[in-house]
Formats: sequence, C-alpha cells, structure tokens
Amino acid sequence: MTRSQRTGSESDAPLFDHFAEEYELHAFDGAYNALYDRPAVLELLGDVKGQRVLDAGCGPGLYAEELVARGAEVVGFDQSPEMVRLARHRVGDRLDVRVHDLESPLDWLDDRTFDAALAALVIHHVDDRTAALREIHRVLRPGGRFVVSTHHPTSDWLRLGASYFSVEPIEEDWHEGRWHVRYWRAPLQRTCEEFTDAGFLIERLVEPLPRPEMADRSPMITRS
Ligand SMILES: C[S@@+](CC[C@H](N)C(=O)[O-])C[C@H]1O[C@@H](n2cnc3c(N)ncnc32)[C@H](O)[C@@H]1O
Repeated sequence: MTRSQRTGSESDAPLFDHFAEEYELHAFDGAYNALYDRPAVLELLGDVKGQRVLDAGCGPGLYAEELVARGAEVVGFDQSPEMVRLARHRVGDRLDVRVHDLESPLDWLDDRTFDAALAALVIHHVDDRTAALREIHRVLRPGGRFVVSTHHPTSDWLRLGASYFSVEPIEEDWHEGRWHVRYWRAPLQRTCEEFTDAGFLIERLVEPLPRPEMADRSPMITRS
C-alpha cells in the first residue's frame, strides 16, 4: 500500500463503490478478513439467535449472511450503494439493508430496539466518530453489546511514521493503486474516549491471536 498523492476522491461516489466487487472477493476468503477479523468479531458477538442485530457499514454482507444463518434478525446499512446491492444479492430478503452514511443520524431506527450491533472495519472511515457512536448507543437496548473492529494504532504508526499521537485523516492507495481509501489514524486513548464519550462502557479490548493457518497465508500476521 502507498500513501496517496491525491487530496480527494476521483468522483463524488462513496470511496468503496469503486472497488466493491473486488472488496467482496478479497474479504470472502482473504486471510485478514476470513481468518482474523470475522472469527474474532463473531466470537465476541456471541449467541445471536433470535436477536435483532445492527450491522453498521455492512459492506457486501459477509457478516450479515453469517448472522442470519445463526438465527439473528439483521438490519444493515452502508454508505456505498454498490455494497448495499452486493449485500442484498448475497443475503436476499432475509436482510433489511439500505444506503445510509454514518455521518448522519440513524433517524429511521427507534431508540433501544437492538440487542447487539457491530461495526467491522468501518469506524475509522468516519469523520465524526463520537456522533456516529452516540447514534448506535441510542438504538441499542440497555445492556446491549456493540462489537467493533478497527485498525491497530501501532500498526498505523509503524506504517505511517510521524507521531503515534497524531489524529489525522490518511489517504492511501491499496491493492496496486486500485483502492483509494481514506481513514483516520488516532492513538488508542483517543479512540477509547470516543466510545466512552458516546455513552459506552468498554468491557473488553481484544488483540486476537492469529489462527495458526495464517502463517502460510499472511506471514506478516503470525503469533510470534
Ligand atoms: C473495509 S469495508 C468493511 C465491510 C464489512 N463491515 C466487512 O467487514 O466485510 C468498510 C465499509 O465501510 C463502509 N463505509 C465507509 N464509510 C462509511 C460511512 N460513513 N457510513 C457507512 N458506511 C461506511 C464502506 O462503504 C465499506 O463497505
């Protein structure tokens, strides 16, 4: 991946629209998504049978598909119309999914109506993260759980350099320049504060151990 020389996206379409299908193929069985992120997030979500679950930034519906298979009623949304199309195609009418940007209030969802929520690899793309997190807090039932996966601040720091304490948007081109992405780097304390300021109590902070099979697929991410 490279730092981008560009200062903005090439069109007004949401960034992930440009490579939604390629992302789906990559995330379906790519080591980082299929062997690291999804197993960890799904384990933390626990038993979802009979529960109402919100999938924020659902992408192509890989999580939603699994949660529906585990007996959850899933409501998903994503900023990218292409991602929403792919999620509908993957999960069909068992998924209630729509285009929505986390920068705006979840005004179509009532207070305290979800047992659980997830935001997998999404929150670092949002500018006003505290406001977005407040909205997710609002729609969760008291005691509801919210599972989030995001970049590790140390891996961003190792890759990007400068100060670990920088809070700034980063633009990069990934996948031989085909994926232009924009996300926020921030130190761990800042990220934790965004959650507590939004009303959440952080119960667990998990750095999942990679599965042994990742050693062959992704030598950069191994146990030792
Ligand atoms: C790395 S993908 C993760 C997709 C999915 N959660 C998964 O793990 O397979 C990031 C997703 O976040 C979505 N996204 C980025 N910014 C968003 C925003 N402000 N509101 C809603 N979705 C957003 C993108 O369109 C993309 O589908």
